[in-house]
Amino acid sequence: MLKGIIIAIDGPAAAGKSTIAKRIAQKLGYTYIDTGAMYRALTHKAIQSGINMDSDHDLAKLLEETEILLIPENGGQAVWIDGVDCSDEIRSQEVTAAVSKVAAHSTVREMMVDKQRKLANDSGVVMDGRDIGTEVLPNADLKIFMTASVDERAERRYQENEKRGIHSSLSQLKEEIEKRDRADSEREVSPLKQAEDAILLDTTSKSIDEVVDKVIELAEMRMER
Ligand code: C5P
Repeated sequence: MLKGIIIAIDGPAAAGKSTIAKRIAQKLGYTYIDTGAMYRALTHKAIQSGINMDSDHDLAKLLEETEILLIPENGGQAVWIDGVDCSDEIRSQEVTAAVSKVAAHSTVREMMVDKQRKLANDSGVVMDGRDIGTEVLPNADLKIFMTASVDERAERRYQENEKRGIHSSLSQLKEEIEKRDRADSEREVSPLKQAEDAILLDTTSKSIDEVVDKVIELAEMRMER
């Protein structure tokens, strides 16, 4: 029996991290943890409650009072906030536009990282985000830094939205993605960056299956060690 390992997948917005992470978790029978969904959940609640998103203290207090559950569902993951399924709401344009601001606060991050480490307590975990390999799980067995050209990332997000019946502007999506990447890379606390021991995977022009196969191959090499 091969041992369950911990796989960390980081990278810029819309690089396909969660699509790939979900598939890998499904194939290996691992737990999938989408850390971006946790920051989105807090952002959604902050918008609903009218909390000042510039205040680390107010957001941390709100997070303390909020129950965020990631529930495995159809190979994916539903996000419940205080007993209500908010899986769609946390993907709204409003949440997407505000989430990087919320995620830049130090106390908020400390609390989130603590929760994420607890969730990854078991082996057999695929976790995706921005600081998993650098901060949350620095001892992960396999670290992937997943990128793709910004044009392709915008195109993928556009197609994803179309499938969900949301019509968007490609140029606006590109602008939003670039803006979020800048904010995530330039923040002081745990900025988005490739861990020294992470493997860079550029998924531009690659199919989902190709990328999944590559990561599984790398994972199997780690399991045999
Ligand atoms: O992965 P997703 O695009 O849903 O993440 C939303 C936002 O949450 C990111 O743009 C980033 O600001 C924040 N995030 C983070 N650290 C993580 C995961 C997400 O700061 N580990």
